[in-house]
Amino acid sequence: MRIVRSPKAMQRIARAWQRQGVAIGFVPTMGYLHYGHLGLVDRARQAVGPRGRLVVSIFVNPTQFGPKEDLGRYPRDLARDRWLCRKAGVDLLFVPSATAMYGSANPADPSAGFSTWVVEETLSRGMEGLARPGHFRGVTTVVSMLFHLVWPDVAVFGAKDYQQAAVIRRMIRDLHFPVKLLVSSTSRESDGLAMSSRNKYLSGDLREQARVLSQALEEARQAVRRSGRPLPAARLRRQLWNRIEQAPAARVEYIEFFNPETLAPVRQVRPRDQAALAVYIGKTRLIDNVRL
Ligand code: PAJ
Repeated sequence: MRIVRSPKAMQRIARAWQRQGVAIGFVPTMGYLHYGHLGLVDRARQAVGPRGRLVVSIFVNPTQFGPKEDLGRYPRDLARDRWLCRKAGVDLLFVPSATAMYGSANPADPSAGFSTWVVEETLSRGMEGLARPGHFRGVTTVVSMLFHLVWPDVAVFGAKDYQQAAVIRRMIRDLHFPVKLLVSSTSRESDGLAMSSRNKYLSGDLREQARVLSQALEEARQAVRRSGRPLPAARLRRQLWNRIEQAPAARVEYIEFFNPETLAPVRQVRPRDQAALAVYIGKTRLIDNVRL
């Protein structure tokens, strides 16, 4: 497995592969890999076949974090990530620095001299976009950069970040990126908690309480499935909110019910609509979503 740090070198390698006609599969990540990420890697391998090349990027992208968020303490373990990627059959691990990606000489503010952004203006408005201003601008900009450096034929994202995958799909369409997007289902711990690098922040009792997110979503799914008719979103939201905040450390940030393609909120919730939520468990912010 090759490890590449320089964006220019990455681009040279990708161009050579492209010329040789080998398919490139790509999984962008922020590292601290878990089985959810590795599921995406397997999916990418299936898509490009044994002769294709598999690229994983590890880059904790500073521009998608708000000023009060956890950029500084985001978990990192490159040695372990390397080992996991090698075992998973990754061909190339791309690990650029923030200063190289954003062309800055100032590590304390890597995007200081940077002024070209990619902004999706519709699907990124609600939910994570509302709760984390600037977040999706950082995501679409860095994913565009990564696409220009890795030249993937196929890129795999996780349904865990449902809105992110929808925003990237729209960006690919709008900007004519020659990339096929695959979205892989959410990998969960045995008690239902969606796998996430941020689960590392949860210990003991808080980890226990974090089960409430997936439990509440599953209960909502069953309620919608069992009811013979649509359920008013406002009522369902209230029920879920109360259910979740029964866990003493839980504080709900949002609960949304929406159309799975347009992400437009629905007033009446039906089977096949999508539900998504963001909840603080203590100081840790978790998200999850489910097809109802
Ligand atoms: P990160 O949170 O590291 O996630 C990388 C990819 O793994 C994303 O597509 C995410 O949806 C997927 N993923 C995370 N947990 C998952 C799980 N439990 N099951 C399935 N897939 C899961 O998302 C990002 O990084 C960044 O925003 C990035 C796209 C890399 C841009 O910086």
